[in-house]
Amino acid sequence: MNQAEIEDLLLGIPVSKVYCYQTVSSTNDLAIEWAGKGALDFTIVIADHQTRGRGRYGRSWFTPPGAALAFSLILRPREKYENIKPASCTALGAVAVSDVLGRYGLTPQIKWPNDVLLNRKKVCGILTEAQWVGDYLQALILGIGINIAPSSVPPKESLNYPATSVELELEKKVNRYQLLKDIISQVRTWREQINTPKFFAHWEQLLAFKMENVLVTNGEQTIEGTLVGLTPNGHLRLRLALGLEREIVAGEIKLRPAK
Ligand code: ATP
Ligand code: BTN
Repeated sequence: MNQAEIEDLLLGIPVSKVYCYQTVSSTNDLAIEWAGKGALDFTIVIADHQTRGRGRYGRSWFTPPGAALAFSLILRPREKYENIKPASCTALGAVAVSDVLGRYGLTPQIKWPNDVLLNRKKVCGILTEAQWVGDYLQALILGIGINIAPSSVPPKESLNYPATSVELELEKKVNRYQLLKDIISQVRTWREQINTPKFFAHWEQLLAFKMENVLVTNGEQTIEGTLVGLTPNGHLRLRLALGLEREIVAGEIKLRPAK
Protein backbone atom coordinates (compact mmCIF):
# COMPACT_ATOMS: atom_id res chain seq x y z
CA MET A 1 0.00 0.00 0.00
CA ASN A 2 1.22 3.48 -0.70
CA GLN A 3 0.85 6.54 1.49
CA ALA A 4 -2.42 7.70 -0.15
CA GLU A 5 -4.02 4.26 0.25
CA ILE A 6 -3.04 4.05 3.90
CA GLU A 7 -4.33 7.58 4.51
CA ASP A 8 -7.61 6.56 2.84
CA LEU A 9 -7.93 3.47 4.99
CA LEU A 10 -7.31 5.49 8.14
CA LEU A 11 -9.82 8.18 7.17
CA GLY A 12 -12.37 7.11 9.75
CA ILE A 13 -10.03 7.50 12.72
CA PRO A 14 -8.45 10.73 13.89
CA VAL A 15 -4.79 10.44 12.92
CA SER A 16 -2.72 13.60 12.45
CA LYS A 17 -0.45 12.43 9.65
CA VAL A 18 0.97 9.22 8.20
CA TYR A 19 4.56 8.96 7.02
CA CYS A 20 4.85 5.83 4.92
CA TYR A 21 8.22 4.40 3.81
CA GLN A 22 9.43 1.44 1.83
CA THR A 23 12.69 0.88 3.75
CA VAL A 24 13.95 2.64 6.87
CA SER A 25 16.53 1.90 9.53
CA SER A 26 13.88 1.90 12.25
CA THR A 27 10.45 3.55 12.31
CA ASN A 28 11.27 4.68 15.86
CA ASP A 29 14.30 6.61 14.52
CA LEU A 30 12.14 8.38 11.95
CA ALA A 31 9.39 9.04 14.48
CA ILE A 32 11.91 10.60 16.87
CA GLU A 33 13.11 12.80 14.01
CA TRP A 34 9.56 13.87 13.05
CA ALA A 35 8.65 14.47 16.68
CA GLY A 36 11.72 16.71 16.96
CA LYS A 37 10.40 18.69 14.00
CA GLY A 38 7.06 19.21 15.72
CA ALA A 39 4.94 16.27 14.46
CA LEU A 40 1.57 16.27 16.19
CA ASP A 41 -0.05 13.81 18.58
CA PHE A 42 -1.15 10.65 16.73
CA THR A 43 1.31 10.92 13.86
CA ILE A 44 2.16 7.50 12.42
CA VAL A 45 5.42 6.39 10.85
CA ILE A 46 5.14 3.07 9.04
CA ALA A 47 7.58 1.07 6.94
CA ASP A 48 7.43 -2.06 4.87
CA HIS A 49 10.98 -3.03 5.80
CA GLN A 50 13.38 -2.09 8.61
CA THR A 51 17.09 -2.60 8.17
CA ARG A 52 17.89 -1.83 11.81
CA GLY A 53 14.66 -2.50 13.66
CA ARG A 54 15.39 -2.52 17.35
CA GLY A 55 14.06 -3.87 20.58
CA ARG A 56 14.93 -2.99 24.13
CA TYR A 57 18.57 -2.40 25.06
CA GLY A 58 19.65 -2.25 21.42
CA ARG A 59 18.57 -5.81 20.62
CA SER A 60 17.60 -6.23 17.01
CA TRP A 61 14.08 -6.66 15.66
CA PHE A 62 13.78 -8.62 12.42
CA THR A 63 11.48 -6.93 9.85
CA PRO A 64 11.93 -8.35 6.35
CA PRO A 65 10.20 -6.60 3.39
CA GLY A 66 6.46 -7.07 2.97
CA ALA A 67 5.96 -9.55 5.79
CA ALA A 68 5.37 -7.65 9.02
CA LEU A 69 3.61 -4.66 10.46
CA ALA A 70 6.16 -2.19 11.79
CA PHE A 71 5.09 1.25 12.86
CA SER A 72 5.65 3.96 15.42
CA LEU A 73 3.00 6.19 16.86
CA ILE A 74 3.91 9.63 18.21
CA LEU A 75 2.01 10.51 21.36
CA ARG A 76 2.25 13.98 22.83
CA PRO A 77 1.19 14.63 26.39
CA ARG A 78 -1.98 16.63 25.77
CA GLU A 79 -1.50 18.66 28.86
CA LYS A 80 1.60 19.14 30.92
CA TYR A 81 0.55 16.64 33.55
CA GLU A 82 -1.06 13.91 31.47
CA ASN A 83 0.06 10.85 33.34
CA ILE A 84 1.43 8.81 30.49
CA LYS A 85 4.88 7.38 31.14
CA PRO A 86 6.95 5.07 28.92
CA ALA A 87 5.93 1.97 30.88
CA SER A 88 2.22 2.72 30.66
CA CYS A 89 2.65 3.58 26.99
CA THR A 90 4.13 0.12 26.37
CA ALA A 91 1.20 -1.42 28.24
CA LEU A 92 -1.19 0.69 26.18
CA GLY A 93 0.32 -0.78 23.01
CA ALA A 94 0.36 -4.35 24.32
CA VAL A 95 -3.26 -4.15 25.49
CA ALA A 96 -4.43 -2.61 22.19
CA VAL A 97 -2.61 -5.24 20.09
CA SER A 98 -3.99 -8.04 22.29
CA ASP A 99 -7.55 -6.75 22.08
CA VAL A 100 -7.41 -6.56 18.31
CA LEU A 101 -5.82 -10.01 17.87
CA GLY A 102 -8.51 -11.32 20.23
CA ARG A 103 -11.16 -10.17 17.75
CA TYR A 104 -9.65 -12.55 15.19
CA GLY A 105 -10.46 -15.44 17.49
CA LEU A 106 -6.89 -15.69 18.77
CA THR A 107 -5.92 -15.79 22.45
CA PRO A 108 -3.12 -13.25 22.88
CA GLN A 109 -1.27 -12.86 26.14
CA ILE A 110 1.15 -10.22 27.33
CA LYS A 111 4.63 -11.36 28.31
CA TRP A 112 5.30 -8.53 30.70
CA PRO A 113 6.47 -5.93 30.05
CA ASN A 114 6.63 -5.55 26.27
CA ASP A 115 5.77 -8.62 24.23
CA VAL A 116 2.55 -10.15 22.98
CA LEU A 117 2.38 -13.93 22.66
CA LEU A 118 0.16 -16.30 20.71
CA ASN A 119 0.25 -19.89 21.91
CA ARG A 120 3.15 -18.88 24.19
CA LYS A 121 5.24 -17.69 21.25
CA LYS A 122 6.22 -14.12 20.56
CA VAL A 123 4.21 -12.44 17.81
CA CYS A 124 4.71 -8.78 18.72
CA GLY A 125 7.32 -6.64 20.42
CA ILE A 126 6.89 -3.10 21.67
CA LEU A 127 9.53 -0.46 22.19
CA THR A 128 8.60 2.87 23.74
CA GLU A 129 11.09 5.69 23.61
CA ALA A 130 10.71 9.08 25.25
CA GLN A 131 11.81 12.47 24.05
CA TRP A 132 12.54 14.92 26.84
CA VAL A 133 13.50 18.57 26.89
CA GLY A 134 14.88 19.12 30.36
CA ASP A 135 12.39 17.37 32.58
CA TYR A 136 9.45 18.05 30.32
CA LEU A 137 8.27 15.06 28.32
CA GLN A 138 7.90 16.20 24.70
CA ALA A 139 6.74 13.02 23.06
CA LEU A 140 6.48 9.29 23.48
CA ILE A 141 7.27 7.05 20.55
CA LEU A 142 5.26 3.85 20.71
CA GLY A 143 6.99 1.40 18.36
CA ILE A 144 5.08 -1.76 17.53
CA GLY A 145 6.32 -4.70 15.49
CA ILE A 146 3.99 -7.58 14.62
CA ASN A 147 4.92 -10.71 12.70
CA ILE A 148 2.22 -11.17 10.08
CA ALA A 149 3.38 -13.57 7.35
CA PRO A 150 5.33 -16.71 8.25
CA SER A 151 8.43 -15.21 6.60
CA SER A 152 8.50 -12.45 9.23
CA VAL A 153 9.50 -14.99 11.89
CA PRO A 154 13.26 -14.89 12.45
CA PRO A 155 15.30 -18.07 12.07
CA LYS A 156 15.16 -20.20 15.24
CA GLU A 157 18.93 -20.00 15.85
CA SER A 158 18.72 -16.21 16.24
CA LEU A 159 16.07 -16.33 18.96
CA ASN A 160 16.25 -16.94 22.66
CA TYR A 161 12.47 -17.08 22.93
CA PRO A 162 10.19 -18.88 20.42
CA ALA A 163 8.38 -16.74 17.86
CA THR A 164 5.37 -17.05 15.61
CA SER A 165 3.27 -14.96 13.23
CA VAL A 166 -0.40 -14.01 13.05
CA GLU A 167 -0.93 -15.95 9.83
CA LEU A 168 0.80 -19.06 11.18
CA GLU A 169 -1.53 -19.08 14.17
CA LEU A 170 -4.67 -18.19 12.22
CA GLU A 171 -3.86 -20.41 9.27
CA LYS A 172 -5.10 -17.73 6.91
CA LYS A 173 -4.01 -14.44 5.41
CA VAL A 174 -4.67 -11.16 7.17
CA ASN A 175 -4.64 -7.58 5.95
CA ARG A 176 -1.89 -5.93 7.99
CA TYR A 177 -3.23 -2.44 7.26
CA GLN A 178 -6.65 -3.32 8.62
CA LEU A 179 -4.83 -4.57 11.71
CA LEU A 180 -2.98 -1.23 11.88
CA LYS A 181 -6.25 0.69 11.73
CA ASP A 182 -7.87 -1.40 14.47
CA ILE A 183 -4.81 -1.11 16.72
CA ILE A 184 -4.65 2.67 16.34
CA SER A 185 -8.34 2.98 17.26
CA GLN A 186 -7.88 0.71 20.24
CA VAL A 187 -4.88 2.77 21.43
CA ARG A 188 -7.12 5.84 21.18
CA THR A 189 -9.82 4.21 23.24
CA TRP A 190 -7.55 2.97 26.04
CA ARG A 191 -5.51 6.16 26.17
CA GLU A 192 -8.53 7.90 27.66
CA GLN A 193 -8.46 5.35 30.48
CA ILE A 194 -4.74 4.91 30.96
CA ASN A 195 -3.74 4.19 34.54
CA THR A 196 -7.34 3.71 35.67
CA PRO A 197 -8.24 0.61 37.71
CA LYS A 198 -10.18 -0.63 34.65
CA PHE A 199 -7.05 -0.39 32.50
CA PHE A 200 -4.88 -2.22 35.05
CA ALA A 201 -7.52 -4.93 35.52
CA HIS A 202 -7.72 -5.52 31.78
CA TRP A 203 -3.93 -5.55 31.41
CA GLU A 204 -3.63 -7.99 34.30
CA GLN A 205 -6.24 -10.24 32.75
CA LEU A 206 -4.10 -10.50 29.62
CA LEU A 207 -0.86 -11.43 31.41
CA ALA A 208 0.91 -14.59 30.27
CA PHE A 209 2.03 -17.20 32.86
CA LYS A 210 -0.41 -16.06 35.55
CA MET A 211 -0.29 -18.33 38.59
CA GLU A 212 2.55 -20.25 36.92
CA ASN A 213 6.07 -20.64 38.17
CA VAL A 214 8.37 -18.25 36.34
CA LEU A 215 12.00 -17.20 36.29
CA VAL A 216 12.88 -13.54 36.27
CA THR A 217 16.49 -12.79 35.31
CA ASN A 218 18.32 -9.50 35.22
CA GLY A 219 21.57 -10.88 33.88
CA GLU A 220 23.17 -11.33 37.30
CA GLN A 221 20.42 -12.76 39.39
CA THR A 222 17.52 -15.12 38.71
CA ILE A 223 14.48 -15.23 40.93
CA GLU A 224 11.90 -17.98 40.80
CA GLY A 225 8.35 -17.44 41.93
CA THR A 226 4.70 -17.59 41.06
CA LEU A 227 3.49 -14.79 38.83
CA VAL A 228 0.57 -13.42 40.81
CA GLY A 229 -0.37 -10.34 38.78
CA LEU A 230 0.27 -6.61 38.72
CA THR A 231 0.69 -4.04 41.46
CA PRO A 232 -1.58 -0.98 41.17
CA ASN A 233 1.22 0.79 39.28
CA GLY A 234 1.85 -1.94 36.75
CA HIS A 235 4.85 -3.68 38.30
CA LEU A 236 4.94 -7.46 38.34
CA ARG A 237 4.01 -9.33 41.52
CA LEU A 238 6.00 -12.50 42.18
CA ARG A 239 5.19 -14.77 45.11
CA LEU A 240 8.41 -16.31 46.37
CA ALA A 241 8.91 -19.37 48.54
CA LEU A 242 7.62 -18.83 52.11
CA GLY A 243 4.82 -16.68 50.69
CA LEU A 244 6.89 -13.50 50.49
CA GLU A 245 6.05 -11.18 47.64
CA ARG A 246 8.51 -9.34 45.43
CA GLU A 247 7.69 -6.44 43.14
CA ILE A 248 9.52 -6.50 39.82
CA VAL A 249 10.09 -3.22 38.00
CA ALA A 250 10.50 -3.37 34.21
CA GLY A 251 14.15 -3.00 33.36
CA GLU A 252 16.57 -5.26 31.63
CA ILE A 253 14.83 -8.37 32.84
CA LYS A 254 13.84 -11.56 31.11
CA LEU A 255 10.69 -13.40 32.04
CA ARG A 256 10.37 -17.09 31.31
CA PRO A 257 8.12 -19.95 32.38
CA ALA A 258 10.10 -22.05 34.87
CA LYS A 259 9.66 -25.38 33.10
P1 ATP B 1 13.07 -12.07 25.24
O1 ATP B 1 12.34 -11.80 23.97
O2 ATP B 1 14.27 -12.94 25.08
O3 ATP B 1 12.19 -12.44 26.38
P2 ATP B 1 13.15 -9.38 25.66
O4 ATP B 1 11.64 -9.46 25.60
O5 ATP B 1 13.74 -8.51 26.70
O6 ATP B 1 13.73 -10.76 25.73
P3 ATP B 1 13.29 -7.77 23.50
O7 ATP B 1 14.33 -6.73 23.55
O8 ATP B 1 11.89 -7.41 23.94
O9 ATP B 1 13.73 -8.99 24.27
O10 ATP B 1 13.16 -8.29 22.01
C1 ATP B 1 14.27 -8.41 21.17
C2 ATP B 1 14.50 -9.88 20.95
O11 ATP B 1 13.40 -10.41 20.20
C3 ATP B 1 15.71 -10.14 20.09
O12 ATP B 1 16.84 -10.34 20.90
C4 ATP B 1 15.34 -11.40 19.30
O13 ATP B 1 15.74 -12.54 20.01
C5 ATP B 1 13.84 -11.37 19.29
N1 ATP B 1 13.30 -11.00 17.97
C6 ATP B 1 13.82 -10.19 17.02
N2 ATP B 1 13.00 -10.04 15.98
C7 ATP B 1 11.89 -10.76 16.27
C8 ATP B 1 10.69 -11.00 15.60
N3 ATP B 1 10.40 -10.46 14.41
N4 ATP B 1 9.80 -11.83 16.21
C9 ATP B 1 10.03 -12.38 17.40
N5 ATP B 1 11.15 -12.19 18.09
C10 ATP B 1 12.08 -11.38 17.54
C1 BTN C 1 11.05 -5.87 21.60
O1 BTN C 1 10.44 -6.93 21.64
O2 BTN C 1 12.08 -5.62 22.20
C2 BTN C 1 10.47 -4.69 20.92
C3 BTN C 1 10.57 -4.75 19.44
C4 BTN C 1 9.93 -3.50 18.86
C5 BTN C 1 9.91 -3.51 17.37
C6 BTN C 1 9.19 -2.32 16.81
S1 BTN C 1 8.99 -2.46 15.05
C7 BTN C 1 8.52 -0.79 14.95
C8 BTN C 1 9.45 -0.03 15.87
N1 BTN C 1 10.70 0.25 15.22
C9 BTN C 1 11.72 -0.36 15.83
O3 BTN C 1 12.91 -0.27 15.47
N2 BTN C 1 11.30 -1.03 16.88
C10 BTN C 1 9.86 -0.96 17.03
